[in-house]
Amino acid sequence: MKLIVANHKMNLTLPEVLDYKHKIEEINTSKIKLVICPSYPYLVELNSNNYYLGSQNVGILDNGALTGEISAKQLSFLHVSYVIVGHSERRTILKENNSDIQKKIEHVLKTGMHVILCIGENQEEKDKGKTKKVLKENLEILKNISANQLGKVIIAYEPIWAIGTGVIPTNDEIYEITEYIKNLIYDKYDVDIKVLYGGSVSPDNIVELEKIRNIDGYLIGGSSLNPKKMSDIINKVR
Ligand code: PGA
Repeated sequence: MKLIVANHKMNLTLPEVLDYKHKIEEINTSKIKLVICPSYPYLVELNSNNYYLGSQNVGILDNGALTGEISAKQLSFLHVSYVIVGHSERRTILKENNSDIQKKIEHVLKTGMHVILCIGENQEEKDKGKTKKVLKENLEILKNISANQLGKVIIAYEPIWAIGTGVIPTNDEIYEITEYIKNLIYDKYDVDIKVLYGGSVSPDNIVELEKIRNIDGYLIGGSSLNPKKMSDIINKVR
């Protein structure tokens, strides 16, 4: 069953998100696993039987003095099942580093929630042929995680140059990178990890993306804000 993750980022107001919920609840989600990741304030309102709840981020501490942040434990009491960690916007704009991301993953896994770890190369790294090197370095973040806990980790391969640009890698490129990530994890931990593709997924390219045999789902930003586009995408996912 494919995992479809909607990453709302910092979008939608309360009235908009309530209307969104109403429309998303009408979609038949029986053939996929749908995860909606709204902004923090809407997590409680968006709880539903038709999909899972996800968080876009989590704090680096278990609890305590960290103004403006939210802990994994707090999220786990809001019916959150998935937590996105290490999104490129947090790494580049908010200067989040691998040590922060490592702490976040550990806290999330302690609560039993799933981690969606985002990794991907930027345009310059791609141009210099460094994509695999960058991904391998990013996956080092998992070095302290046990094979057992890795069962709760999902990798989202998101080439930074493809996020919000409408430009996506070829199917062959996505297949090769997904295989590379899966093999790296399998060789090291003996675990079959799930890999999502993210970056400009839309109703226009989903049929083509669905031809890729090894991807386990999608992380969707812009298109996920529109219930009609979500419905179109979900209906085309096998
Ligand atoms: P996009 O965003 O679908 O708008 O490219 C994906 C993401 O950043 O997760």
